[in-house]
Formats: sequence, structure tokens, C-alpha cells
Amino acid sequence: MDIKKVLNEVTKEIEQSSSQQELQNVKVAYLGKKGKITELLKSLKDLSLEEKKSSGSKLNLLRIEVDNLIKDKFNDLKIEEINSKLKNEYLDISFPPPNSIASKAHPISKTFDEVITIFGSMGYSVAEGPDIETDFFNFSALNIPENHPAREMQDTFYIDDKDKEGKPYVLRTHTSPVQIRTLLNQKPPVKIIAPGRTYRCDSDSTHSPMFHQVEGLFINENANMGDLKGTLIEFCKQFFNVQNLKVRFRPSYFPFTEPSAEMDIAYEIVDNKIQLGQGDRWLEILGCGMVNPIVLENCNVDTNIYQGFAFGVGLDRITMLKYGLTDIRSFFSGNLNWIASNGFTIGDF
Ligand code: DAH
Repeated sequence: MDIKKVLNEVTKEIEQSSSQQELQNVKVAYLGKKGKITELLKSLKDLSLEEKKSSGSKLNLLRIEVDNLIKDKFNDLKIEEINSKLKNEYLDISFPPPNSIASKAHPISKTFDEVITIFGSMGYSVAEGPDIETDFFNFSALNIPENHPAREMQDTFYIDDKDKEGKPYVLRTHTSPVQIRTLLNQKPPVKIIAPGRTYRCDSDSTHSPMFHQVEGLFINENANMGDLKGTLIEFCKQFFNVQNLKVRFRPSYFPFTEPSAEMDIAYEIVDNKIQLGQGDRWLEILGCGMVNPIVLENCNVDTNIYQGFAFGVGLDRITMLKYGLTDIRSFFSGNLNWIASNGFTIGDF
């Protein structure tokens, strides 16, 4: 029995295998049920006891060695296959896009930019908070206790991991938690906006599971409802580019403001197109109110001295209104043709 010869032969075949399938065939040809090495092992039974002992252990070593060689080769081939896949499917994301969509900015990015510019000119600075929030910041500090119906109003995405209080983390359902983060970090007066992503389990032509809001918070010694109205009306005039803007404030309810209101802007349909500013139809665009003293106390703000207002605006909503877009989902479809016709170039900023 020429073990060396078999070893040489199989080693060569293993080396020459250029795919996992080829290697598998070699494995079957030598170690399979009817494989060469298996047959040799089977033939041991016809040998004398002496021969059985010496040939048996040699054959066994051969089987183990071949098995190891095949395993190593399998690993090499796997790595080679991954590398070649990476090479073939390589995508250079820094490569310039086709000319038609070169440098186009998303309408939402444009809105972010405008919102920051407009409120910036009124003296607001930008604050930020994380997308993954604790129950405390997203709900309880904002006077939305557990089992409060307001929690049901916002279809929350919960995360398996629990925070220090043993409550599941959430994807923030609004930008309002940034009010709390700011007030715990900064002594009044406070004048911030917090634009960012928000999440709710909801999807249709006017709702997306990920959407955008801008929060506003102004705390000082005498900020009042009149200041709030003036601020929001001025923002809308500038954002929608309409000087003669008809608006109304309706009483509403939010746990974190008292009193609370919603602001609507008037519109009419002319030639099948929505025209903002006048008319007898109303579109709700934001929620607002005087910050509930309970919220200020939760943040250790002295309510004998300080008061203020807050507001939350749906950025996708006002972007759709401004540009006459009807389906929020088109913002997030990643369709290059869409961005080519609805995106903005540097000159638009
Ligand atoms: N957080 C509210 C929501 O997402 C919006 C809102 C309403 C924010 C009133 C405010 C506010 O700051 O005062 O539905």
C-alpha cells in the first residue's frame, strides 16, 4: 500500500481545487463512503494482525492529515471567494453621481437649513439630543406619566435594552426631550431650537416611521403667549415666503404645555394647486404652548422667576406644503430621479 503516493496525489488535487465545489468533490473522492482512503481502511480487514497494526495507524494518520489539508483549503477558498466578491461588488461612494443629480440637496436638508437660519436670526441657537432616548426624557420628565393616554397618541418604537431605571429605551417620538436635556444642562434664560429625526410606528402618505421635527424652547422671566404667537407667525411668513399670511391658533392639549395651542395656516386650491396664506381652508402645522411649570420643576428651574414657551413643528409637513408634494414616503424612497427633479443645488441655498 503506497500511502505516500496517495498523499502526494490528494495533496496535488487539493491544491489545484479552485472552488469550494471542486474541493468538495476531492473530499468525496478520498474520504467519502466509497473514497480511496475509505476503501483502503476497509481493506485492512483482510490483512494479518501485524500488518493491520502498522498499516492501520499509518492510514489513520493519512486520513487525519488529508482531512486537515481539506479544511485549511476550504478556509482559504472561502476567504478568496469573499475577497473576489468584495472586489467585484466594490462601490465607490465618493465617486461623483451622474451629472443630472450632481450636488442636489434633499428638500428636507434645505428645510433644516432655512429653519436654522430663520430662528438663528431671532437669536435661537441649535441644541441636540440622541435619537435613542430613555423613558424619562421622552415621556416622564415631560409630564407624560406611565399609562397616560398621551403615550398611546404616539405609537412608540421600543428597544429591547433597558435603561438604568429598568425601562426600555425608545426611539424618540418627538424632539421635546431636547427641552429637558437643555434645561438640565443650561441655566435660564434659554433660547434654543432642536431640529432632528423622530420616530413613530405609522406609515401612509402623510406619515413615515421616521420623520423630522423642530422643537423650540424660550425661557426667561416674562416670555408670554403673545411672544409665542409673534415668533411663530414671523417664522411662517419667512419660511413660506408669504407676507400676508392668515393663521389661527386653536386651543389644544399637550401634557408639557399649559395652556396649549395648535397653529393652522389658511390655504385655498387654485388651478388644482394648493396656495398658502389665504382662503377658508386650514392646515395644522404645529403644536405649542406655555411650558408647563411641572416640566420646569422637573428640571430644577425656579418657577417663581422663570416661565416660557415651547413649540414643535413637523418639518416634513411644512416641506410638503411649501413645495406642493403629496406623499411623505417619496422623501425617503432613495429614488435618484425624484431627487433630480425635487432636490436643490448650491445656488438655491
Ligand atoms: N411634541 C409634540 C408632538 O410631537 C409637539 C409639540 C407640541 C411640541 C407642543 C411642543 C409643544 O414643544 O409645546 O406631538
